[in-house]
Amino acid sequence: MNRAPFLIAPFDASYDRAAFRSDSEPLNRYLREQVTPDIRRRVTACFVALADEQRIAGYYTLASASLLLADLPTSIGKKLPRYPTVPAVRMGRLAVDQVFKGKGLGGALLADALNRAVRSEIAAFALIVDAKDEAAEAFYRHHSFISLPDSPLTLFLPLATIQRS
Ligand SMILES: CC(C)(COP(=O)(O)OP(=O)(O)OC[C@H]1O[C@@H](n2cnc3c(N)ncnc32)[C@H](O)[C@@H]1OP(=O)(O)O)[C@@H](O)C(=O)NCCC(=O)NCCS
Repeated sequence: MNRAPFLIAPFDASYDRAAFRSDSEPLNRYLREQVTPDIRRRVTACFVALADEQRIAGYYTLASASLLLADLPTSIGKKLPRYPTVPAVRMGRLAVDQVFKGKGLGGALLADALNRAVRSEIAAFALIVDAKDEAAEAFYRHHSFISLPDSPLTLFLPLATIQRS
């Protein structure tokens, strides 16, 4: 994964998000209108890449989640404890401003999310993502994510495969 020279920090409402334009208007609107109440209610955490002190160049969200054991590929599920669910962390959203696309920032944000999930003291088997379309699915597959057999736009990466940094 590429590393881009951006500072990645927890979201702060003082950062400039009005100008944020990724390819996805729902993801732009979420950053403008919904992330602050979601953080306040503790249903999400948000981390942003800052291009300079205030401008948001990209962001992602993280929250606790679970995966149904039965939804995993059999070859992976059979090695896990026989509980109905497996603990996970969900990266619900990931977006990069069009100005900063193709410079390694999406990969750097993904690496940062994986690293936070691995460093957590609360165990999780995998990072899960919900790809919004086939292009996003291809992005995650490029980064070694595995699709759930019955819902290919939901992908996961076992955290035991990640090197802590
Ligand atoms: C998907 C997105 C986050 C990628 O961000 P980005 O900064 O342009 O991506 P990067 O420059 O970091 O690319 C990292 C790697 O992924 C690859 N990549 C990028 N988009 C890809 C795609 N759609 N399919 C396959 N590979 C892709 C790059 O070629 C690069 O490969 P390399 O590390 O081997 O050189 C960005 O395009 C975006 O915000 N899209 C709109 C929102 C979206 O689709 N979010 C996804 C979650 S729903």
